[in-house]
Amino acid sequence: MSFVKRNVRCGKLNAQNIGEEVILNGWVASNRNLGGLIFIDLRDRFGLVQLVIRPDEKPALAEKSKSIRSEFVISAIGVVRKRESPNAKIPTGEIEVILTQIDVISPSELPIFEVEDDTNANEELRLKYRYLDLRRPTLQNKFLVRNHLYQIAHKFFFENEFVEIETPVLMKSTPEGARDFLVPSRIHKGSFYALPQSPQIYKQILMVSGFDRYMQIVKCFRDEDLRSDRQPEFTQIDCELSFVEQNDILEIFEQFFKLVWQEILNVEVQTPFPRMSYKEAMEIYGSDKPDTRFDMKISLLNDIFSNSEFKVFQETIASEGTIAGIVVKNGAEYSRKQIDTLTEYVKKYGAKGLAYLKFGDEISGSIAKFVTPEEIEKLTQKINIQKNDILFIISDKWTRALTALGALRLEIARQSGIMEQVKNQYNFLWVIDFPLFEYDEDSNRFVAMHHPFTAPKSEDIEMLDINPGKARAIAHDIVLNGVEIGGGSVRIHDSNVQKKMFSLMGLSDEEAQDKFGFLLQALKFGAPPHGGIALGLDRIVMSLTGTENIRDVIAFPKTTSGMSLMDSAPSSVSQEQLKELGIAVAK
Ligand code: AMO
Repeated sequence: MSFVKRNVRCGKLNAQNIGEEVILNGWVASNRNLGGLIFIDLRDRFGLVQLVIRPDEKPALAEKSKSIRSEFVISAIGVVRKRESPNAKIPTGEIEVILTQIDVISPSELPIFEVEDDTNANEELRLKYRYLDLRRPTLQNKFLVRNHLYQIAHKFFFENEFVEIETPVLMKSTPEGARDFLVPSRIHKGSFYALPQSPQIYKQILMVSGFDRYMQIVKCFRDEDLRSDRQPEFTQIDCELSFVEQNDILEIFEQFFKLVWQEILNVEVQTPFPRMSYKEAMEIYGSDKPDTRFDMKISLLNDIFSNSEFKVFQETIASEGTIAGIVVKNGAEYSRKQIDTLTEYVKKYGAKGLAYLKFGDEISGSIAKFVTPEEIEKLTQKINIQKNDILFIISDKWTRALTALGALRLEIARQSGIMEQVKNQYNFLWVIDFPLFEYDEDSNRFVAMHHPFTAPKSEDIEMLDINPGKARAIAHDIVLNGVEIGGGSVRIHDSNVQKKMFSLMGLSDEEAQDKFGFLLQALKFGAPPHGGIALGLDRIVMSLTGTENIRDVIAFPKTTSGMSLMDSAPSSVSQEQLKELGIAVAK
């Protein structure tokens, strides 16, 4: 299996190599016979170079090259020469290699789709033949950026005295938010390991063990519904620090992002990042991960419509709900059809309807007949509405009204081209002061908004007894352009407070002991104050490489239905395997 080994990489050749004899190995990107000349483009990870055969001078070579097709792996020897017509689009465009020898190292079947950046092959096909897809330079570049990020992270955290420690992949199933992936135990039939949703408890235990600062680039597994920025297995840059307050954590991570954006994109990001409370984020942007690159802010309108003639508003006021709206500049031109489409859109977010007022020559719109001149007067004083604008209003429970308006704001920004205008801007933002709990209507109990190990704000500790729903957490999410790229908190380091948290969440003492006894125990043996954060590495790479599809930054991703098309996972297993595990599959 010997082959003529390269002495230079295809993409690294340039004008300085002119006159040199070189040996190249790579994949054939194209083979074009123009009669007088044969051009072969040869590709490796470093780029593409043009090889030339002159049939009049090398007839045997020309003959041999006829059998060489796209995606063959070849070895080529030749002399570098200046190109007569340079190609400014590629780094090797000033030169070409005049061949003296060519050998096939490994042939290729006809590729299922052409390996090129602008492919129109559908994604399913690309995922099935992922090895071909991953040859495309645009995709390879994303993995080079990803690799660069790993290296910066390791260096940065090492220099800041974080210790990288691996935590188990087979662990105890401990409810953390999403559904666990379970792994049956062969030795302990009927018992299961869970794949970690995150190394949360382990990293806290490492703080109890005195490691001071921990980091790990780690796979996490969550069996949840998938989206364009969500995969069942994804990667975190997971960190934990001892003897810190929230601000210490935020400052270190601002430095980290500043470095990453500087080194990878050569973009200067300003620190400190703005900080916004969860309440402000919701009431101004209708989201706990606001995209602050553009305004179109939400206005709360309860005061204006407190005596409204409109029944829906009256009911909202009576039930202490929220009436809120956004103004869209020049939106008075929206057609009925466009408004109907937007109404359907907000219904997906639970809104019952979308009221609107058009400020044309006169006031018109779905609720115009209920609105008094005084209300219009107050509206124009409170919010910046001009002629030809439209005001969209949703009234509902606080969360629902604001979430639906937040979604509408983004949809209008996408439709109207605002998103396109701001696409090269990077707005980092900390969202803080989250509620400690959310009330789960289905199970009629409180659930932790971040996770059950998050500390309440000290000024809100009393609230735990009076009104737990009002207590705020020392939690922080890092948001970039409307995407949550990380989240963390200061943790509870007192076993009694931790116990109280579990009991507020409706876990009995026995249940808490059964699920988290080891953590409660560890907290009794001298736990330092600690806190941390986990960054969503895949989402950071998405931003750095400008893609909205998480599958572009994961080498072997799953489809939205959780399939790996290349190797057909998940798949059935043999009866023997099941028997060994003591498992029967229900029909
Ligand atoms: P959290 O659950 O917020 O926190 O996760 C941290 C970050 O991981 C990313 N992320 C995902 N990325 C892709 N696919 C998914 N399914 C997915 N789920 C989450 C997000 C998110 O912000 N243990 C805590 C961290 C801590 O408290 O320190 C945790 O896992 O970018």
